[in-house]
Amino acid sequence: MRVLGIESSCDETAFAVVENGVRVLSNAIASQIDLHARYGGVVPEIASRAHLEAVVAMHRAALQEAGVTMDDIDAIAVTRGPGLSGCLLVGTEYAKALALRHGKPLIAVHHIAGHIDSVNIGRTATAWGDPVEARAAFAPYVALVVSGGHSSLVHVRGPMDFLVLGETLDDAVGEAYDKVAKLLGLGYPGGPAMDRLAGEGHPQAFDLPRPMVHSGDYNFSFSGLKTSVARTVEKHRAESGARELAPRFLADLAASFQAACVDVLLRKAARALEETRVGRLAITGGVACNRGLRAEAARRFPKVQIAIPASEFCTDNAAMIAGLGGVLGGEGLRSGLGLNALPGLGLGDEGRWQE
Ligand code: KG4
Ligand code: ZN
Repeated sequence: MRVLGIESSCDETAFAVVENGVRVLSNAIASQIDLHARYGGVVPEIASRAHLEAVVAMHRAALQEAGVTMDDIDAIAVTRGPGLSGCLLVGTEYAKALALRHGKPLIAVHHIAGHIDSVNIGRTATAWGDPVEARAAFAPYVALVVSGGHSSLVHVRGPMDFLVLGETLDDAVGEAYDKVAKLLGLGYPGGPAMDRLAGEGHPQAFDLPRPMVHSGDYNFSFSGLKTSVARTVEKHRAESGARELAPRFLADLAASFQAACVDVLLRKAARALEETRVGRLAITGGVACNRGLRAEAARRFPKVQIAIPASEFCTDNAAMIAGLGGVLGGEGLRSGLGLNALPGLGLGDEGRWQE
């Protein structure tokens, strides 16, 4: 089964072709980062217009890269939510038009479920290893989904069977990275720049809080950590009398911030692994690109099978949508042409995806 996936929930216009829910034949992405950078964040109205301008070119790029035509496509999978309403609409309407024009079945996919499932797709192998075996033996795992829009710990019991253990109560971890980066003058999106800078600093230089680490549940909170960084910057400015932040100070603060984020994420993940007795951990979403997080996860969990997708499948992409779409399509799930975008679609609403 060859599925064309469409993803437009935020600021990436993405199309991909994936075979049998596993093998990625193409992964075309038009990023809007340059359009939003000057505003320091995604502007929904600009984003939805940019999606409209990019869809046709990305659709063509995905088919061309895969070496296929629409005749070779068996189904169309599209992100239905959660996301920005106007952005989602561009993807769902385009998907419906394609389904109607080419007489192909339509499959709705949940964006975060796509991230969770992204460990099961790859160009040659998946993040778990052998592609066919990985999919066939869909073992339960704990997923730590960390991105600009969401931070969740999920017990994944099957491709459509999620138990959400905990979520962020305020900022997502990627959002906290972006806000701190802005504060330190590193530009947007700040995650990759912070990651680089953190590699040059001392993680114990500043004693930053570990919010909610003893809360006894699996929820996160990152806005207090961001405020703590802001206070550290103010104090440094007041003491040094300089407006410009010294490179050493910046690197140490970035490293300390990263250490605090990684510590909280992995301590909660450790509890989830213990409680669920699941020996597999998937780390997905844009922040899963983070080098500190990747290295520390491997160090802390030597006995756990850890899967982190290649970077191109961590940040928003359509391959993860086409991959999960292939599995759902294989189970006979279909959406009607009345499909609408659902900006607030919850992960626990599996029954509503195709409605
Ligand atoms: O998954 P994604 O592309 O979009 C959402 O669904 O939100 O994630 C984007 C987020 C941004 O906040 C970005 O700063 C962050 O992922 N990010 C990183 C790194 N690369 C991307 N954060 C920390 N370290 C990185 N290397
Ligand atoms: Zn995402």
